[in-house]
Amino acid sequence: MKSHYNLSQSKPQIKFALITSSIFALFICIFVVCFFPTISMTLMSTRKLIDVESSSIQDVYTPTSVEHLVFGLGSGGNVWSKRKDYVRLYWKPNRMRGCVFVGVLPKLQDNDSSVPPLCLSSNASRFPYTWGPTGHLSANRMTRIVKDIVAMNYSNVRWYVFGDDDTIFFPENLVKVLSKYDYRHWYYIGAPSESFLANQYFSYGMAFGGGGFAISSSLARVLAKNIDSCLERYPYLYGSDVRTYSCISELGAGLTHEPGFHQVDMLGNTFGLLATHPVTPLVSLHHVNHTDPIFPRMTNMNALQHLFKAANADSQRVLQQTICYYNKLVWTFAVSWGYAIQLFPYNMPLPEILKAPHTFKPWKKTGNVMDSAYNFNTRKIERNICDRPVVFYLDNVSSDQNGTMTSYKRSSRNCPQHVPTLKKLKSIKVFSRKLDLDIIQLRSPRRQCCDILPSNAKDQMEIGIRECGDEELNFMKWEN
Ligand SMILES: *[C@@H]1O[C@H](CO)[C@@H](O)[C@H](O)[C@H]1NC(C)=O
Ligand SMILES: *[C@@H]1O[C@H](CO)[C@@H](O)[C@H](O)[C@H]1NC(C)=O
Ligand SMILES: *[C@@H]1O[C@H](CO)[C@@H](O)[C@H](O)[C@H]1NC(C)=O
Ligand SMILES: *[C@@H]1O[C@H](CO)[C@@H](O)[C@H](O)[C@H]1NC(C)=O
Ligand SMILES: *[C@@H]1O[C@H](CO)[C@@H](O)[C@H](O)[C@H]1NC(C)=O
Ligand SMILES: *[C@@H]1O[C@H](CO)[C@@H](O)[C@H](O)[C@H]1NC(C)=O
Repeated sequence: MKSHYNLSQSKPQIKFALITSSIFALFICIFVVCFFPTISMTLMSTRKLIDVESSSIQDVYTPTSVEHLVFGLGSGGNVWSKRKDYVRLYWKPNRMRGCVFVGVLPKLQDNDSSVPPLCLSSNASRFPYTWGPTGHLSANRMTRIVKDIVAMNYSNVRWYVFGDDDTIFFPENLVKVLSKYDYRHWYYIGAPSESFLANQYFSYGMAFGGGGFAISSSLARVLAKNIDSCLERYPYLYGSDVRTYSCISELGAGLTHEPGFHQVDMLGNTFGLLATHPVTPLVSLHHVNHTDPIFPRMTNMNALQHLFKAANADSQRVLQQTICYYNKLVWTFAVSWGYAIQLFPYNMPLPEILKAPHTFKPWKKTGNVMDSAYNFNTRKIERNICDRPVVFYLDNVSSDQNGTMTSYKRSSRNCPQHVPTLKKLKSIKVFSRKLDLDIIQLRSPRRQCCDILPSNAKDQMEIGIRECGDEELNFMKWEN
């Protein structure tokens, strides 16, 4: 659900005054049909497992791919035409399966094959909804997407994925993250909100629907069977994601938190969030039309398309942070790959760099002192512009079989106290190899290292990203 929350209300369960017209974002669940393993003899990293459900056939667990996922996206007939540009950013028509569920099918359907087909939600109007005057009746319809999509009997489904029509997924990264888990057991995978108040109101154990979440096919099947009885018991809750969460809780399952899912319950400039992504693949972004464009001087959509240039070249590396200490000049570079580089013209301790610069504003101002409390560390932005890091934003992306080159163009102005070398610096080129994390690296993540490469250009620097040495420590090594 999109969290439009307001904690300053008195009646506990419910009052969340919601705001905004952002409609349907509530969300959903899922489930599945199952499939057990196709017994294919694919060799790459197969694991032998005993199939617990279908007798004791020795089964081969082939790597999970995007073909194993089925998406159930929640939308509405009158907003879909605007929102489908977001889904088109990531949808791969020939490889991805799923539906966009609407309450009423539009009269004219354009059969646009670059996005998933529209599917009519089942009629949920008989279920009670008492949250309050500003809530969304569609919450019941959205919650039932899990039942509707399981009933469609897709074959060979490992995971059902739920999201809003303004959730941007990074499908390759989603597959990577899900591949850590055995889809034959019950899993409910996603992330809570960034906002302290939203998590207090809903639950730290809830996967927020706007950030998207995944449910293993075995859990989805069971959820589908039981969702209607849960809808009867939770008429007083706000959205669909909290209904899904409540039903999963009744079954005794809980959230597996994956920090690559992003609900983005914040407004304004999300630079701080994007520049300090944890060491895990970026799975989703949400509320993209509520926050500022992620690149300056672009529209929202152009900015997202720009990020996808990097994602298309090296999906798993997008937003991954690498920090280089340039001992010679005592400068610190923090690269958020495919997005931006912060250059601190001094020695910036690594643990400080990992805190998100507080560039964003709260989703809703309720007057509560906790409005700007987040569930990650933030760092105050320096008051004086000249004390802030010099920022470079992604400019160009190119790749060949040897790797990827991304270039970043200076955005910040010069300041009087900058040394001449810094005043002249206009762009930074970053060289890297395509990241393809194996299961060990996914389970035991480690940030990569980087080096400043020799370069003769006066207005440009070059950085090479590489795996760190065995026990390499990353800090400023003073040269004299
Ligand atoms: C994004 O927001 C703008 C301004 O509020 C609105 O005009 C536009 O229709 C929105 N776009 C989508 C896709 O929702
Ligand atoms: C879309 O497909 C439906 C069903 O196949 C068909 O009836 C309709 O004419 C198509 N619409 C367009 C615009 O092609
Ligand atoms: C949904 O069901 C209700 C009765 O439960 C009925 O009144 C309504 O017309 C139905 N809506 C649609 C679109 O079929
Ligand atoms: C899915 O399978 C069930 C059970 O075999 C069947 O009753 C149902 O009609 C099927 N649904 C579709 C859409 O094929
Ligand atoms: C970026 O790429 C475009 C087209 O590939 C090229 O025209 C432009 O010069 C490049 N810019 C930089 C800074 O390399
Ligand atoms: C890749 O690197 C090799 C060895 O450095 C070089 O010979 C080759 O030209 C490079 N390929 C491309 C497409 O740049």
